Amino acid sequence: MGFAKFLGIGSSTPEKVLSNVDLEKIIDTSDEWITTRTGIKERRIAEPEVATSDLAYEASIKALEDAAVDVSEIDGIVLGTITPDHIFPSSACMLQSRLGAKQAFAFDLLAGCSGFLYALHAAKGMIEGGDSKKLLVVGAETLSKIMNYEDRSTCILFGDGAGAAVLSTSDTPGILSSCLGANGDDWDLLYMPAGGSRMPTSEETIKNRGHFLRMEGKEVFKEAVKAIQASSLQAIEKADLTPDQIDLFIPHQANYRILEAVRKRIGLPEEKVFSNLDKYGNTSSASVPIALDEAVKSGRLKKGDIALFSAFGAGFTWGAAVVRW
Ligand code: UT7
Repeated sequence: MGFAKFLGIGSSTPEKVLSNVDLEKIIDTSDEWITTRTGIKERRIAEPEVATSDLAYEASIKALEDAAVDVSEIDGIVLGTITPDHIFPSSACMLQSRLGAKQAFAFDLLAGCSGFLYALHAAKGMIEGGDSKKLLVVGAETLSKIMNYEDRSTCILFGDGAGAAVLSTSDTPGILSSCLGANGDDWDLLYMPAGGSRMPTSEETIKNRGHFLRMEGKEVFKEAVKAIQASSLQAIEKADLTPDQIDLFIPHQANYRILEAVRKRIGLPEEKVFSNLDKYGNTSSASVPIALDEAVKSGRLKKGDIALFSAFGAGFTWGAAVVRW
């Protein structure tokens, strides 16, 4: 059995910035409240004509360039998203077509904000099992399209973006461990009520704003801290390491208070945590790969370093992975 490793990483975020000060003009909030409660200063918003697969395409092109891999070498595409271009077919198929990755299989994976960690786990398994040699793993979202800009408890948090990674077979271990978990009992604490088979689109669902994200923030916060801590420690142990051997912790960028609580519980110093939350807010499936790309390009994560990724999201779902970069 071979191993799986990262060959390249790329990301893409829309140019349009929605700042806390901009939000002050449309809802009853303040820069001070958002900054102190979340750590977010601004988020990126896709133009009306831009869909999730468009951002995924830009991130994938950069990842392929970074990996120096031709698209013809890609055996498959796994795309984590909760905001696909359409309910079906998958955005991964649109990405496959646009990239011209004719030989690649393609599927979307829905695991809330843990989408990239779930996609990574699936890709690792396919590579280590010998079925695939090179895979494109993507997390991409246009959350602004499902945001209720009249709900101050959610619209201040989320933004748009995409991150993509090229994974390949390797003689030496690259992804040292990966752990996933879920608790479907709490699915209704973070969800979009309408537009699926439970509540198909109707005049009523539109009138009731059922096509927007809904969240019980306080409950989600508590569960996120517990699950990110537990899965991170599980992934570290599975990699036969101890927390002090982690060079950089790249968590899902949801709220700096969650990051701080987890960091303290795991026992990591502040300088070992990567955050770009202030610039992008919560980009769900895209948050870990965008942060990873920025960590690598800025020199915070260097070749040979050990990184810890973790995420928590709707479902509930969670995941963590330890990687030798
Ligand atoms: O990525 C998936 C995982 N998602 C998350 O991790 C999100 C987790 N949750 C959170 O990050 C936090 O719970 C929030 C940032 C969403 C909310 O922070 P909080 O400290 O839990 O605030 P809260 O919901 O308890 O609200 C406190 C007060 C309330 O007012 P009263 O009832 O105390 O008078 C809210 O109405 O803050 C009020 N509030 C706001 N005030 C100004 C809520 N949102 C806002 C706002 N601006 N945007």
